[in-house]
This record gives sequence, C-alpha cells and structure tokens, in this order.
Amino acid sequence: MLKLAQRVGRAKPSAIMEIAEKAKRLKAEGRDVISFSIGVPNFLPGAHVYGAARKALDNDSGQYGSNRGMPELLDAFLAHMQGVGMDGYTRENCAVAVGAKHILYNLAEALLDEGDEIAFATPYWTSYMDIAEILGAKVNLLPCPPEQNYKLTPEQLDAALSENTRVFLFNNPSNPTGMVYTKDEIAALADVLVKYPTWIITDDIYNRMVFDGVGYHNFVQARPELRDRVIFVDSLSKTYGMPGWRVGLMAGPETVAKAVVTLNSNHITNIPEIVSVAATAALAGPQDVPTEKCAEFQRKRDEVLAVLSEIPGVVCPRPQGAFYVFPDISCAFGKTHGPTGMKIDNDVDFCAALLEAKGVACVPGSAFGEPRSLRISYTCPTPQLAPGMQRIKEFFAELG
Ligand SMILES: Cc1ncc(COP(=O)(O)O)c(C=O)c1O
Repeated sequence: MLKLAQRVGRAKPSAIMEIAEKAKRLKAEGRDVISFSIGVPNFLPGAHVYGAARKALDNDSGQYGSNRGMPELLDAFLAHMQGVGMDGYTRENCAVAVGAKHILYNLAEALLDEGDEIAFATPYWTSYMDIAEILGAKVNLLPCPPEQNYKLTPEQLDAALSENTRVFLFNNPSNPTGMVYTKDEIAALADVLVKYPTWIITDDIYNRMVFDGVGYHNFVQARPELRDRVIFVDSLSKTYGMPGWRVGLMAGPETVAKAVVTLNSNHITNIPEIVSVAATAALAGPQDVPTEKCAEFQRKRDEVLAVLSEIPGVVCPRPQGAFYVFPDISCAFGKTHGPTGMKIDNDVDFCAALLEAKGVACVPGSAFGEPRSLRISYTCPTPQLAPGMQRIKEFFAELG
C-alpha cells in the first residue's frame, strides 16, 4: 500500500461537522431537530450584492485575475479598514483568498517552518489547531478558563511569550466564546507584545459584530509600532451572510502580503471575478443588512443568557460579540439523564444525550480545547431559539 504524506495523518475531521452531520441525519429520519451547532449566519446578503453579481456575469471577462485580488475589492477593504481606525494601508499591504480560513492557512505557511512555535489562547477556533498540526508547528496553548471570562491577561501573555515564539495568533471577537476585548484590555496586551519579536495575526473576522457599545479595537491602534508585525484578517462570510462565496482578506506588512500573493499564485491563482465584484458591492454598498443582523444577534444573545441564568450550576461569561455563547456546563458531569438513562461524564456525552433526548445540537467545548463547556451558535431562525433553549433547560432539570 502506498503511503500518504505524514502531514495528512495529523489532520483531524472537524468535531463541529460531526455533530452537524448527526443532526442532519436525525432530521432526515423525521426527528424535530433544532441546530445550535454550526457557526453559519442564517441570512443572505443585500439585493445590491446579487445585482452586482448579475451585472458582472453579463460583463464577465472570462480571464484569470490578479493573484493579490481585484483592485476594486482591495480598495473597498482599505476603506473598511479606515472606518475601523486602521489608516495608511495600501493595496500592497493586502491580499484576498478563498475565505479567512485560506488566508490563515497561507499565513501559517508563510510564517512558520516545521517545529516553529505558534501561541494562542484556549478556547480556540478549531482550525487553528488543525492548521498548526498539518504544518508541524509547535503549539503553545494559553488556557483562558471561564473564571477569567475566557480572556487572555497581560501577565499570562508575558509569561507565555518568548523570543522563540514565531507567531502569536489572536481572535477578537472570539469564536467559540463570543468574548470581546475592551480598548483598555487591547492596550494592555499590546504593551506586552511590543516586548517580543513575534508575528501577530489578529483574526478579527467578527469585527463588525460587537454589542453593548464596546467597539472593536486593534493592537495597531493601541501601539502603532506593532504595525510592522501585525496581520489583520477579515472575511465576508459572517458579516454579510456570504460564507459560501468564500472571500477572506488580510492587511499587514508588504512582505507578508507578498508571500500570501505568491502562495495564491501557486494554489488558486485568484478568486473568481464575479465573486470579487459581489464582495466589492457588499463592502462598499449599503450596510443595512450587517447593521440589522448585529442588532438581532444582540437581542438573541440576551435571550440565550436569560434562559441559561435560570439553570442552577451553569456559569456563563457574558459574550459581547459574534453569535456564540459558551456556557460552563460541568455541573452536569457525573449525572444521568433520567428519561433516557444516558450517563454524562463529559461534554461529548452531554451533547450526544442532549441531541438524542431533546433534538438540540450543540458543539462540545473540547472541540475548542475547553472540555467543561459547550458552544451554542444562535443564528437559527428566531422562532426556533426560545423552544431550543427551553429544551436545554428541561434537559438539565431531568438530570439526577
Ligand atoms: C474565528 C474564525 N476565523 C476564521 C473563520 C473562517 O472564515 P471563512 O468562512 O472566511 O473561511 C471562522 C469561521 O467560522 C472563524 O470563526
């Protein structure tokens, strides 16, 4: 039998997709399933985006495009960056790829050799670990448990980084916790980062989904001297309801952008012209859809937290962005679900029993490196949210 490359063996199938697949199967069998599992925005982009795509189809050049990205799309992205206070970037600082995931993969390839250290907080978005493992990087995890609101402290960062840390990967607002760093918290972390010679990737794809007036803040605004090392990652997937269009963007030092462009030229050449035109329309056109969705997600966050607060033993730091809630459900461990007799020893048992007994799909926290918690993604159609949360509450009441 011929062998595959070792790096492929290090890649694990996504735990999130496993739950989503099981929920789909139960649904196909006729079960009434409510899915709080995958982090997909449950809306479509505005009509002007489809209008632009149709027009682009009529005028299609049918040709290859730029490895960096369509100039109009880069300009629309630069205008967005200016809007969030990141001035002075040019097209040469930017690159476009097939979603933020592809940007992150490209960045990891561009910045990490095998055995190099990458540091990031736990809980983490699952692909961070998978990408690091595929590339054979050394992962330095910084545990951020619910007791510290799932947030990294400056002291912890200072203790974890060293001159051997090649990349520090940061995610704000966070998937899976929904936590958002305040301006002061970002400034305090930036004060630590200036001391260490590491690349800093800020995966900030939820930067337009921030609640309670906290605002979005970035290390470059806090300490402009970090500009030579910070790479800002953005995406149209969540904000504009365009996950299937696959548009991710980055802005950072010219050398890094150029490396991503080189990888693009070898992997994908370019993202399609029609997609680029639609993405430009989304970024540069009316922002009603993302604005309305952000307000809707804040209301849904409140609804989810209100129900969780009524469940004895469940602890949930208050998220202020994205569309996730990440409660600590470890009070359920060691108990048995009465009606089904299912024993719950950990988060995976909990999610399996919840899906089986109540038809509610959530993702076990261990998929994100925090096995005491589970992730609720609340982008489901609004009428499903209250019944889904009531079922979770009932499930807890049936544990003994
Ligand atoms: C934190 C984070 N980064 C990156 C991505 C990837 O986004 P994209 O659809 O642009 O590849 C996701 C998607 O879930 C995410 O949650």
